[in-house]
Amino acid sequence: MTASPQDPAPNPHATAEEVEAALQDTKLAQVLYHDWEAETYDDKWSISYDERCIDYARGRFDAVAGDQPLPYERALELGCGTGFFLLNLMQGGVAKTGSVTDLSPGMVKVALRNAEHLGLPVDGRVADAETIPYEDDTFDLVVGHAVLHHIPDVEQSLREVLRVLKPGGRFVFAGEPSTIGNFYARWLGRATWAATTNVTKLPFLSDWRRPQAELDESSRAAALEAVVDLHTFDPTDLENIAKSAGAVGVQAKTEEFAAALLGWPVRTFEAAVPPEKLGWGWAKFAFGGFKTLSWVDDKVLQHVVPRNFFYNVMITGVKPGTTD
Ligand SMILES: C[S@@+](CC[C@H](N)C(=O)[O-])C[C@H]1O[C@@H](n2cnc3c(N)ncnc32)[C@H](O)[C@@H]1O
Repeated sequence: MTASPQDPAPNPHATAEEVEAALQDTKLAQVLYHDWEAETYDDKWSISYDERCIDYARGRFDAVAGDQPLPYERALELGCGTGFFLLNLMQGGVAKTGSVTDLSPGMVKVALRNAEHLGLPVDGRVADAETIPYEDDTFDLVVGHAVLHHIPDVEQSLREVLRVLKPGGRFVFAGEPSTIGNFYARWLGRATWAATTNVTKLPFLSDWRRPQAELDESSRAAALEAVVDLHTFDPTDLENIAKSAGAVGVQAKTEEFAAALLGWPVRTFEAAVPPEKLGWGWAKFAFGGFKTLSWVDDKVLQHVVPRNFFYNVMITGVKPGTTD
């Protein structure tokens, strides 16, 4: 579990001047926002490193690359965050060794700490996905989850992915917002936030209201989110970007339509009320509801709803050539 000594240190407490500058500089915004989030990120997104998230990560991988012989020898993750995708994929038997990278030093630190707790052979670097600091032909697999939509030049990043992959090596990116999905997710999120924060102003519901300072902080975070979220994707457009970067065997898939229609209001509601108000019954409803609607998506809606209506876009492709 090694970090590179020349990497910058995390900066979880940005100054007002830095935040102001970040409004004009998307990469500075990424670093400030994600350094600030790093230590609480796993809790915020209910990320774990047990069967629940291993199955989820493996399910996303298998949806686009499930027919591949496993495990891959050496894998790289871009925009690793706290390591959710690669660490769970490694635990799920997808790769033997890993390198986690992220633009945010705070995220790399937490990802390496998580890998150490899990006893996984992982090293890490602070790295921009547009200029990946590894030699050509290094990795058998490159993965990412919810990262492409943050990268200014997605095609440049995929060219870099293909450069560091060995010939015949594969990339798998998942968790990217579709253009239509992002539209309804934002709309549902905003409506749920407004309804919850207004209804809880009623005196008899006041213990369901989070302190105003916390609500204000969430609103400021949402404003920065608008600076760091750069793209949404139409699956066919994303396939074309990957092909023009030089990939072959490119295939995009989408999932989560009914599940997203439930998931976004649920997540927003959870952020708007004090966590202690939501007990075990709520967690069961949220997780059970998401699982049931994911089943409906998979078994029914995938066959009748056009693919660009689903929220989650995944893409895979291969570097031309063969491994020896
Ligand atoms: C939405 S988070 C996802 C984190 C993690 N992959 C997950 O799914 O939980 C996006 C991550 O991408 C990182 N990021 C943003 N722009 C980047 C870039 N140009 N190069 C590398 N990482 C980047 C952020 O710092 C952040 O940790």
